Amino acid sequence: MAGGVVVDAQYLKEVEKARRDLRALIAYRNCAPIMLRLAWHDAGTYNAETKTGGATGSIRNEHELGHGANSGLKIAVNFCEEVKAKYSKITYADLYQLAGVVAVEVTGGPTIEFVPGRKDSLESPEEGRLPDAKKGASHLKDIFYRMGLSDKDIVALSGAHTLGRAHPERSGFEGPWTNEPLKFDNSYFTELLKGESEGLLKLPTDKALLDDPEFRRYVELYAKDEDAFFKDYAASHKKLSELGFTPS
Ligand code: HEM
Repeated sequence: MAGGVVVDAQYLKEVEKARRDLRALIAYRNCAPIMLRLAWHDAGTYNAETKTGGATGSIRNEHELGHGANSGLKIAVNFCEEVKAKYSKITYADLYQLAGVVAVEVTGGPTIEFVPGRKDSLESPEEGRLPDAKKGASHLKDIFYRMGLSDKDIVALSGAHTLGRAHPERSGFEGPWTNEPLKFDNSYFTELLKGESEGLLKLPTDKALLDDPEFRRYVELYAKDEDAFFKDYAASHKKLSELGFTPS
């Protein structure tokens, strides 16, 4: 169920207004982390071979929202409805990705180029396309290679856990990854290299980034060079936000 999107001057104007409203909403609701997680879970279902899933807005389906991995994301979908109600032209697919880009920007992260024009779909992929936090490096590779992403993308994007926390009632895990979970910086990597710290979370998939030599070299680079992290993160996030979408 794809609807055509004409990105004309009026559409671009609405995107700019929605961007401003999202900045305000994210500040007011203090919800940058969950908005970023929403964008990632909408896009991260992509299968590059079958060209299904991806940044299509399908996560708003009750059915897809009910997938175990999406527990809690209804909150973020509802926040986005507040913006959609004012700017009806904008597709959900664009709105969710714009929310992710703005969440990174307003918490001090890099500027991520946003190209609008994603089509909405109500076709949800089957459950199980997002990564399982209890697994290791080879699982991460299977999942992200399926999206068409690389080892470097996996490590850079994992740095998004600089924001937010795990909630026991959502994922069964608990706590933030860093001491300042509302600041986008490279502390996810410095904490990962430090090892266990009282009160901070490390998922099995976070620790897996230390096991695989290809992953580890990026962890070490990003821990010592925040500029390199920001540059690579911005490029990888743009790729993630465009899974299943070819800008015209
Ligand atoms: C939170 C797993 C990659 C962004 C979480 C949570 C889990 C998880 C279990 C806790 C959810 C909760 O209890 O509320 C994973 C796994 C990944 C991964 C296994 C595989 C590499 C990513 C990526 C991004 C991301 C690529 C974004 C680019 C976030 C954010 C939160 C989060 C921002 C915090 C949400 C909040 O505070 O409400 N992730 N994640 N994650 N994830 Fe990931």
